[in-house]
Amino acid sequence: MKISIIIIVFILPLVILAGVLTYFYYQQSNIKDENMSNNATIIQLPQPLYQGQLSIEEAINRRKSIRDYSNQPLTLIEVSQLLWAAQGKNQEGSKVAPSAGALYSIEIYVVAKNVEGLVAGIYHYLSEDHALEVHQNTQIDQDLKKAAYDQSYVEEAPVKIIISGIFARTTKKYGERGIQYVYQESGHIAQNIYLQAESLGLGTVVVGGFDQKKVDNLFNFKEGQQTLYIMPVGKK
Ligand SMILES: Cc1cc2nc3c(=O)[nH]c(=O)nc-3n(C[C@H](O)[C@H](O)[C@H](O)COP(=O)(O)O)c2cc1C
Repeated sequence: MKISIIIIVFILPLVILAGVLTYFYYQQSNIKDENMSNNATIIQLPQPLYQGQLSIEEAINRRKSIRDYSNQPLTLIEVSQLLWAAQGKNQEGSKVAPSAGALYSIEIYVVAKNVEGLVAGIYHYLSEDHALEVHQNTQIDQDLKKAAYDQSYVEEAPVKIIISGIFARTTKKYGERGIQYVYQESGHIAQNIYLQAESLGLGTVVVGGFDQKKVDNLFNFKEGQQTLYIMPVGKK
């Protein structure tokens, strides 16, 4: 009798508590795993600002291609702001740049050479989460310059934003015409980056002169995904 009371009062609650704790521990580990796609590290970016120092008219008026950058690193806040302007979410919850049929064929990558708080390497921008995931741990700045017909600023810039297109996302609905739409979409995004760079006191240029295959191979893009623009960014 006494033993059964001891079991019910002391041991049973302990067993139940241990079971509950184990359950929550495994739940937590699963959540962590889901956040790591292909074991890639996820870097949450700082919240972007929705108001700046420069009016849109001033940014348009000042915009020009800049190919000379200082040796200073970019901050993670600056990178965050540029990526938001490229493909982040607006106040309505859709992306900041228009997209034919809202099919969003563009994927953005960052080649970080000199960014405070970011290990040098290649990152993929996750616009839904405003985060970066490691794409490759390699430094490709020199190879990228070579593949871009030796345009020196492609290597020198502390950051390169890569605008790539996955054509099938748009062509499956619009056929051949979808190809044109993807190029047009990349233009909208590039202009946003130009204007955001101007507002942050940074310089950039769209580089379309590069060997398609060589550059796509550097990013390990599969058939159907193409680099559309390389945008070196740095402090003026
Ligand atoms: C489709 C396209 C491709 C370009 N490719 C390059 C390039 O490979 N290298 C470069 O330095 N500038 C490139 N540019 C930038 C142009 O040279 C630049 O926009 C032009 O000289 C006008 O100067 P601005 O941008 O200062 O107004 C390209 C521009 C466009 C629209």
